[in-house]
Amino acid sequence: MNRTRREFLVTSGAVAAAAAAAAMRPLSAIAAIGSGRAEFDAALAGGGAGAFAKAGAGTSRSADSSHSTDKAREKAGGDAGEGHEPKISLPEDLMREHGVLDRILLVYEEGARRLRQKEDVPHHVFQNAAQLVRIFVEDYHEQTEETLVFPEFARHARLVELVKVLTDQHAAGRRLTDVILRSSDAEAYGKVESREDLLMSIDAFVRMYRPHKSYEDTILFPALYTILPERQVAELGEKSEQSEHERLGAGGFEHTVTQVAAIERELELDDLSKFTPRE
Ligand SMILES: [Fe+2]
Ligand SMILES: [Fe+2]
Repeated sequence: MNRTRREFLVTSGAVAAAAAAAAMRPLSAIAAIGSGRAEFDAALAGGGAGAFAKAGAGTSRSADSSHSTDKAREKAGGDAGEGHEPKISLPEDLMREHGVLDRILLVYEEGARRLRQKEDVPHHVFQNAAQLVRIFVEDYHEQTEETLVFPEFARHARLVELVKVLTDQHAAGRRLTDVILRSSDAEAYGKVESREDLLMSIDAFVRMYRPHKSYEDTILFPALYTILPERQVAELGEKSEQSEHERLGAGGFEHTVTQVAAIERELELDDLSKFTPRE
């Protein structure tokens, strides 16, 4: 198929109608689900963990066991996770956080592609996505890896080189996020040099993080069970859960998924079925 993804996404009548409806939505609709705009802004513009705590609901490190058929919640891309939920392991928890990162990478990729096609992309799409990276990926997820997971490999002298590369990449990611935040600022965004910085940084970020998270998912996290007994992995999970509550508040993960879904809606990426190839 030679069509670009954008063309592909708007091929069918139903999809085109959805895109038109989305285009008519005011930009402020980004925070229409989950928390209000003020809480969303507070979380993304420096409110950080406290704002997440206020906005969140349900329990952390939990999965929806109710099999709800609530389409609205499915469409929002997340579930508030209220009620009794099963515990999940630390590796599973980190992997589902990678799922959030992957959805942000998709936003970055699609936003950058449209900018290169000279299409209009609101600056806050990049700004909000980068703020989520800072708050959720860098200040929370990677902190968990660096304080709970990586030291175990150092202690057991296993995968030392891989852990060094992963640590270096966390630092490199922070530098790229600094540039993405700076160049997608409302004032800077209109300048040609800022656009170039933004696009180059997004390209580098996406290129680095796809293999980064895949190596963690397929090599590092499975290896945790080869250096620690299950009981100790479970203890790390308990510590991580405590940290999640402290940093993000209850329901921090679920709320973050909701925020990613709101950004996806801005680019009409919020309907998974649009990605299914048409015959
Ligand atoms: Fe990492
Ligand atoms: Fe990770």
